[in-house]
Amino acid sequence: MSHPHDDQPASNPTASHFQDVLHDGLRSPERRDLIRGVFCAGTLASVFPWASEAHASEALGSASTSARLGFTAVDKSLEDNVILPPGYRYQVVHATGDAINFQVPGFTSLGLESDDFTNRIGDQHDGLDLFFLTEDGKYSTKDTGRALLVVNHESSAESAFLHVSGQTSNGVKGLKFDQFREWNGGSRPLEEVVKEINIHGVSITEIRREGNVWRMVRGSPFNRRITPETEATVTGPVGELANIRRFFVTQKFPKGDKSRGTINNCGSGRTPWGTYLTCEENFYTYFSRSEGARPDARMTTAFKRYGIPLDLPTAAKNNSQGWHTVRGTSDDSRFARWDVALKGASAQEDFRNEPNTFGYVTEIDPVATSSAPTKRVAMGRFVHEAAVFGEAIPGKPLVVYMGCDGRNEYIYKFVTKAVWDPKDVGSGIAAGNKYLTEGRLYAARFHADGSGEWLPIDISNPAIKGYEKFAFQNQADVLVHARIAADAAGATPMDRPEWGAMNPANGEIYFSLTNNNAASRTPGKTNPANPRAYLDTDGKKLSGNPNGHIIRFKEADAASPKGRFRWDVFLFGAEEDLGAMNLSKLSAKNSFSSPDGLWFSKATGICWIETDDGAMTDESNCMLLAAIPGRVGDGSKIVIKNELNGQSAEQETFMGAVLGDYNLRRFLTAPKGSEVTGICETPDGRALFINIQHPGEDTKAADLLNEKTQSAWPGNVGYGKPGRPRSATIVITRDDGGVIGT
Ligand code: FEO
Ligand code: CA
Ligand code: CA
Repeated sequence: MSHPHDDQPASNPTASHFQDVLHDGLRSPERRDLIRGVFCAGTLASVFPWASEAHASEALGSASTSARLGFTAVDKSLEDNVILPPGYRYQVVHATGDAINFQVPGFTSLGLESDDFTNRIGDQHDGLDLFFLTEDGKYSTKDTGRALLVVNHESSAESAFLHVSGQTSNGVKGLKFDQFREWNGGSRPLEEVVKEINIHGVSITEIRREGNVWRMVRGSPFNRRITPETEATVTGPVGELANIRRFFVTQKFPKGDKSRGTINNCGSGRTPWGTYLTCEENFYTYFSRSEGARPDARMTTAFKRYGIPLDLPTAAKNNSQGWHTVRGTSDDSRFARWDVALKGASAQEDFRNEPNTFGYVTEIDPVATSSAPTKRVAMGRFVHEAAVFGEAIPGKPLVVYMGCDGRNEYIYKFVTKAVWDPKDVGSGIAAGNKYLTEGRLYAARFHADGSGEWLPIDISNPAIKGYEKFAFQNQADVLVHARIAADAAGATPMDRPEWGAMNPANGEIYFSLTNNNAASRTPGKTNPANPRAYLDTDGKKLSGNPNGHIIRFKEADAASPKGRFRWDVFLFGAEEDLGAMNLSKLSAKNSFSSPDGLWFSKATGICWIETDDGAMTDESNCMLLAAIPGRVGDGSKIVIKNELNGQSAEQETFMGAVLGDYNLRRFLTAPKGSEVTGICETPDGRALFINIQHPGEDTKAADLLNEKTQSAWPGNVGYGKPGRPRSATIVITRDDGGVIGT
């Protein structure tokens, strides 16, 4: 789909390839044996010396949960509605533009609003979670029928829908995000830009259950918006805080102790102590460099690696959303901050450092209405998709897994210094300060023998300390430039890591690798963990790994610096008629492409898979699937024959057991042009909340002017006023009140 990053060239030039991984994997004779043999119980302990026999038999046992899928699979669909199995229903909880208080009128769905969005639900619903409240408004771990619904609002790519005649640039009206002209010297209108800025961030709203229906409580004292303009706290390891603050110095905050807001809030996470983690993804798409001298060599390297524009916009090519071009307001820095031009003598006089203030896991305490969003710099700065905790074990460090969503980017984990104490549940940001300021960051390296290791993203790592392409000064420098440090460390380049999830049945970690293009994956330019390069001859005829896959791994000791893991590919995305590359043998009942959101239900053990696809959308809108997974190692080693553009090469990999229609089924299809993302449930598993993001995103600007949009959801099913499409949170229940998916 037309997310900004989908069209971006990969910014990772150093991606190490198959040869390195193979070389590494073949160092020992046992590993060579494994390459020839089959991944089976007999060889497990010898290949993974850390794996005890007990561990081995457990790992290769039968399915890890007793859950069974109990619904009829939904067919592929192009309908402009949410389609569910028989016996299920859905209801919209809130949609873009809904007023969260009584300071603004209801939403028109026609772009007529002149107010900003600080009093309305933001756009492009993404990650979400529920935080239940006691009657006296305290955090509760139990379903009380009253909750705070926290939703990320990702992007402004569809903000054309929020202005009467689409977007305006240099006086030209009726544009869409991807049509902006060169605006150097021109400007964008204040009202449009303020709206576009404030549709981002996070919404926190109270919802209540009335019978089987959940409604937003308009005007609840808990309702608030966190936007790109909300003041945020900057945290990091105590010994590095002064160095971290140097990277945050701007004209607005010359001491670098604070920053302004959060943006491109993509996937989410939930801490064991009951706060929300919002993950800042494609923050680079908002910046421009309007004028003046190029930055020095070091800053140039950093800008390049993070996708911050170095070239001035031209008549043919813009490089941001033009927010910095707003003129003649009382606080120009609200707009000037999006321009990284070196205008002053130092960083205190301009906004060259503003991009350093984004790209973090940012913690929010939904219940504490006056608490500030808190940037967790210790967890590294990259294009964060989501943050998933491993099992929280009292007395042990906590482990958080994170993906960097870019072509050939990495999977990371953060291990806390503090050990988990369940007494911290409900302690909000104070608990976050305890766990998320001190710890160790790692990036994953997947070996050819089915094992993997974690590379320290630390100044003490000789590969980072001595990296010739970027002279790291200290650990703050490593954290703020974690992508570059992970290059130096030699992490494995992946096919766009999206959401991760932890299987509560056995602690295994799953990651969606949504897709990759043919610039990155050709035969011979694959690696064992990203093994496919092919042409999908159907639909849009995309090549590379256009359908994506889901990888999973089992840690030997997640908190140990030397702890290794075993991995295999859980599922390969494919339409059922893809042929030899339909490796997971998907059928019409469970074919899918481009997995993105990923989550396990604690109530049922079901693994829920959400898609953000552009490869098989000629035959089906995006979807939600339910899977009953086995375990890492329940399949076998396979050899894939990659063929593309006359080239061919073999790639060995490890694939999990084929699930079949019994253990993998399509549960939902979404409205036209939308992706399915964000997911959580009530603890009893009887109400499942998901987000429908950017319905109608393929609407052309000219059609918008005639109100001909690709989608009219949810107005077309009676939610709000009929009109343009809107992103929304929906809740799914069963007619008989039963547990979802079973
Ligand atoms: Fe915001 Fe990678 O999806
Ligand atoms: Ca087909
Ligand atoms: Ca995503």
